[in-house]
Amino acid sequence: MSFGFQGKVAVVTGGAMGIGAATAATLCELGARVAVLDRDRKQGSSTVADLTDAGHAASFHACDIEDAESVQVAIDAAARQHGGLHVVVHSAGIQRYGNVLTTSAEVWRETLGVHLDGCFYAVRSALPHLLAAGGGSIVIVGSVQSVTAVANSAAYVTAKHALAGLTRSIALDFAGRNVRANCVMPGAIDTPMLRWSLSLAAAPQAVLDGCARAHPLGRIGRPEEVARAIAFLASDWASFITGATLAVDGGMLVPSGGMGFQTSGTGSLGEQ
Ligand SMILES: NC(=O)c1ccc[n+]([C@@H]2O[C@H](COP(=O)([O-])OP(=O)(O)OC[C@H]3O[C@@H](n4cnc5c(N)ncnc54)[C@H](O)[C@@H]3O)[C@@H](O)[C@H]2O)c1
Repeated sequence: MSFGFQGKVAVVTGGAMGIGAATAATLCELGARVAVLDRDRKQGSSTVADLTDAGHAASFHACDIEDAESVQVAIDAAARQHGGLHVVVHSAGIQRYGNVLTTSAEVWRETLGVHLDGCFYAVRSALPHLLAAGGGSIVIVGSVQSVTAVANSAAYVTAKHALAGLTRSIALDFAGRNVRANCVMPGAIDTPMLRWSLSLAAAPQAVLDGCARAHPLGRIGRPEEVARAIAFLASDWASFITGATLAVDGGMLVPSGGMGFQTSGTGSLGEQ
């Protein structure tokens, strides 16, 4: 049994940038043929050009993950071009802020549409190809917000919680047909999405410093650190892992009451 992906084909939604692009690159380096799905044609083409220039087998398929038909067309084209499909990674996502009073119905639908409907469409379109190949592996990009809440993020938190449930449903329903499904839960990762979120703040550096302090490892993560966890879960080395949620969060979910409570709460050691 090998950790590599020789002879395997992977689809990565949201693969134009951030965690998705790092995952596409990691899977290519491990021998996979990779189809990048994204709505950003310019960035998606450029990401794939970097991969093919480096000698990898990769293709770009423009699609809007909220549009079932365009996802179906893109995934069928990817499977046709690469001769099958074995791995699906759903990394397409958007960040939106608001509580239940300040979130418009449009933003609510958009957020759930990209994260949740998009995952449903991608998995539904890809599963027949995985089953035709005798099985495969699905990795869904959740968040620490799949199991916790961050203020002012009602739609995002709801979508990420739902993705953990969808992961478990897929894992259970398709375990008997050799399909595994797992969910990674990143902490704050340095991607265009995080940089955009920071740009909304009056003092971006202060918010970035706060993000770093929220992780016991003392820093935010890098996209490739999530990509490696995704690659592991997608690989045969994770052959007995399905329905799992794996935090890739520098320990963010560990400290009860958050990092502030560790230095000021009961039993605290103070600043070290
Ligand atoms: N960056 C973080 O701190 C962080 C933390 C936890 C979870 N996540 C999750 O990781 C995933 C990737 O996030 P990222 O930080 O790499 O974001 P990113 O913005 O850097 O990349 C997201 C990609 O998704 C694509 N996308 C968005 N809407 C789409 C649509 N309708 N159709 C097709 N493609 C679409 C974008 O074009 C982009 O290429 C998301 O699900 C995000 O919620 C990110």
